[in-house]
Amino acid sequence: MRSTVIANSLLLIFLIFWPVKVSSERLLFKSNVRKSPVILIPGDGGSQLQARLNEPKVPHVVCLKKSSWFDLWLNLEFFPPVLVDCFADYMKLIYDRKTRTTRNTEGVEIKVTDFGNTSTIEYLDASRYSLTAYYSSIVNALVKKLGYKRGLNVRGVPFDFRKAPNEMKNLLSDMKRLIEETYTMNNNTPVTLIGHSMGNPVGYYFLKKQTAAWKKTYIARLVTLASPWGGAVKALRLLASGDNLHVYIVNPLSVRSFQRSIPSSAWLMPYDTFWRKDEVLIYAPKYNYTVADYQKFLKDVNYTDAWEMRKDTEPLIKKLDHPGVEVHCLHGVGVDTPASFRYAPSQWYNYQPDVIYGDGDGTVNLRSLHGCLKWQKMNGPPVFHRQYNKTDHLGILHDASAIDYILKLVVKSETERDRF
Ligand SMILES: *[C@@H]1O[C@H](CO)[C@@H](O)[C@H](O)[C@H]1NC(C)=O
Ligand SMILES: *[C@@H]1O[C@H](CO)[C@@H](O)[C@H](O)[C@H]1NC(C)=O
Ligand SMILES: *[C@@H]1O[C@H](CO)[C@@H](O)[C@H](O)[C@H]1NC(C)=O
Ligand SMILES: *[C@@H]1O[C@H](CO)[C@@H](O)[C@H](O)[C@H]1NC(C)=O
Repeated sequence: MRSTVIANSLLLIFLIFWPVKVSSERLLFKSNVRKSPVILIPGDGGSQLQARLNEPKVPHVVCLKKSSWFDLWLNLEFFPPVLVDCFADYMKLIYDRKTRTTRNTEGVEIKVTDFGNTSTIEYLDASRYSLTAYYSSIVNALVKKLGYKRGLNVRGVPFDFRKAPNEMKNLLSDMKRLIEETYTMNNNTPVTLIGHSMGNPVGYYFLKKQTAAWKKTYIARLVTLASPWGGAVKALRLLASGDNLHVYIVNPLSVRSFQRSIPSSAWLMPYDTFWRKDEVLIYAPKYNYTVADYQKFLKDVNYTDAWEMRKDTEPLIKKLDHPGVEVHCLHGVGVDTPASFRYAPSQWYNYQPDVIYGDGDGTVNLRSLHGCLKWQKMNGPPVFHRQYNKTDHLGILHDASAIDYILKLVVKSETERDRF
């Protein structure tokens, strides 16, 4: 009796597998492609944020004091003068030197919406204004060319990009849950993490917190687009004089109070593991500042909180050892990128300095983009590297060959993995 059952089961197994086995492996692959689910991690400024106000005090009478939830980032309606001061007031953080954490302006609440989906990272403006296209090209390619579905196998982790990972406890546990859930929803298929810009140091920090066994189960690979592994010189100008966010009508000084106040700015300052202590990054009338002079620099530009934030955030990924997963490191090159700044006496430090350019992707310096190459010499899964000539920091998100590289990667995996 028992032997008949076994024989029948064997026959059944044989019947199920035999016809497949005789057909070519190609057919098996085609009829049963396992697509690695994709989870996208946005960078600095790469997630839509909503705000709700009940403020006791605002910088101008025109600023809204009380409101229900509205789109704050990115909302182009806030860019005219005066309104941009309201915007900076809503966006800025207040640093507490005792708890070494930040909080919103009193009476301002800020949240991300649609965690797990891509809707708030495809465009930065909720009205999907094409100039603010962010992860849209990559998501559209996955959906239209490979049949991916938003919310099922292409997902996202919008987050409050003002903070650094030392204040991301909830995000990191939500991210872990999302990865595990996505793996399960897709037939136990390991996930491809894709990061852009600061999303990569965040993703890297997250991976370093997980065990090797967890990563082996859940993570197929990490694709890093335009990652500032060693910071970016551009962050120093933003801290000193503000940055107009590429919107020429915005006065950089109007957004400086917000840009200075967020720990992610301090986190992205260049690292002394990438820049030598004799390389001048800021030429100022009375002093030439290098990576060794940040305490003095931040005091001289009248924002010492940023020095405290730098001390909190500098150790987070500085060691930069192997993340323990397969890495595909993609970035642009051959674009003029601020390498140092020169302030004339009349410019220091409330006016925009002259820029001395070097190589990079327009935002991140080449040596910082190349940080991933350190891992090629270390023990661990392979690290692949691709550079795209004349592709800038945001351009990599819409670059046809970079997108093509990603599309090939996410369907390739499972046949390869089966061989192990
Ligand atoms: C994700 O967002 C898309 C639209 O962007 C929507 O069609 C889909 O239902 C959402 N999925 C989930 C699981 O929320
Ligand atoms: C900064 O460096 C420049 C170029 O090396 C030099 O001419 C200038 O005197 C230096 N400034 C100060 C304040 O040391
Ligand atoms: C320094 O910053 C404080 C607070 O933001 C401000 O009140 C003060 O006027 C600034 N000092 C200078 C010299 O700009
Ligand atoms: C990059 O592009 C520029 C201009 O299109 C060209 O002159 C240069 O040779 C290219 N560099 C590489 C390494 O392909």
